[in-house]
Amino acid sequence: MRVLGIIDSQNDCGVALMEDSKIVSAINEERITRKKLVGGFPKESIKVFTKPDIIAVSGFCTPPIFARFFRNLQKAEYDVRKKKNTKWIKKLSDFAQGKLKIQTSKPNSWFGILEKPLIKPVIRRDLPKNLKNTKIIVYDHHLCHAAGAYYTQEKDQVLAVTADGCGDGVSFTINVCKDRNIKRIHEINAKNSHGWFYGLITMALGFQWHKHEGKVTGLAARGTASNVKINFPFVTKNGSTYYKGSHMPNDIKKMIKHYSREDVAAWVQKGLENHVTRVVKYWVQKTGLRNIVLSGGLFANVKLNELIFELPEVDTVYVFPHMGDGGLALGACLLTTRSKPGNLKTPYIGPSYNDDEILAELEKSGLKYKKYTNIEKTIAKLLSKGKVIARFNGAMEYGPRALGNRSILYQTNDKTVNDWLNKKLERTEFMPFPPATLWEKRHKCYKNLKEQNTQQNT
Ligand SMILES: [Fe+2]
Repeated sequence: MRVLGIIDSQNDCGVALMEDSKIVSAINEERITRKKLVGGFPKESIKVFTKPDIIAVSGFCTPPIFARFFRNLQKAEYDVRKKKNTKWIKKLSDFAQGKLKIQTSKPNSWFGILEKPLIKPVIRRDLPKNLKNTKIIVYDHHLCHAAGAYYTQEKDQVLAVTADGCGDGVSFTINVCKDRNIKRIHEINAKNSHGWFYGLITMALGFQWHKHEGKVTGLAARGTASNVKINFPFVTKNGSTYYKGSHMPNDIKKMIKHYSREDVAAWVQKGLENHVTRVVKYWVQKTGLRNIVLSGGLFANVKLNELIFELPEVDTVYVFPHMGDGGLALGACLLTTRSKPGNLKTPYIGPSYNDDEILAELEKSGLKYKKYTNIEKTIAKLLSKGKVIARFNGAMEYGPRALGNRSILYQTNDKTVNDWLNKKLERTEFMPFPPATLWEKRHKCYKNLKEQNTQQNT
């Protein structure tokens, strides 16, 4: 059975393909269109795959589905993104993005119930002609996040924690995974979302919501949380967390206006870490499950993941390589096949090109090139000489991280690299570059390493 997974969402849409219980490939639209985190129907990436027997779709954020159902509202949503908004378009877009008070709080609320019959026609309408009559199954958003995390790692029994801004009216779930089943034992609704609040702060700091949260995490390293004399607007007790602040962007802007961007970033990061680790700790203690798998956009936050791993109650942590909504297409596939955990052996499951195809493109472009027999040795030599390398190798990584196959490489002993390389790449000056370390050399490179038992994915 060939299963095509689709995530058609506000950001980072994409597709994945499984054949029986084997993951064949997965890709997100941004990699083809070169528009970062592009949303909507994945009309380019769907062309990469041949005809499936069944289509598995992940649910997305509830309010926008109504906008998507009516073409004009859908357009309104995109016009606002391009800042071409008039007053009435802004209102419709607010509705589409859930900023008006009709926001749902539970997937089985009346909004959730209305959403389900609307997803299929919205998806079917955009499918290519040859797929129009294929059977479609729709799954809950956070269930797809949990499936991505559970079925792609190796352990049979784990605690799956999912967290994001909002998906199908929910922002946080706790799931007991065992015998190929995922059982949700707790959820936190969207209005108490840490991801949402982090997004509001992202916007108040002048960045783009749903896109630049990573910049806030980067900026946090340069600030001091205690300089911000505002009570963090969350209360966490009994494994739940409650938001006590405003959801309106202007209120958030006013609240932080006396503080520096760096300090506010440090404050929101610290608050997030405190509250989310407390929720995870509670459920680890309650269930006795010490092996954690994480998925959802909130777990793109590497500092938060590190602190979860450092909890004394936690033995191992696995983060699904495509933790954001872009990974939901594969999650939907995995729910359909319900294959044994452990079927993602590598994150390199994107498109690949053989030497002949690459050579043909080089010839066509007229670029100068040279073929090396031992390219790795050549790269190592160039790195040691302080050269910057753009590496294009094998299949593309799945997920937001550049893991060596589509990466820019540079030596790690130049402290000024952030200033000049970020400028060349048109990245924000404070964004860090992650180190790549040989597993065998890890103790030489890092202090106080806590060992994972089996997996090499921290
Ligand atoms: Fe999500």
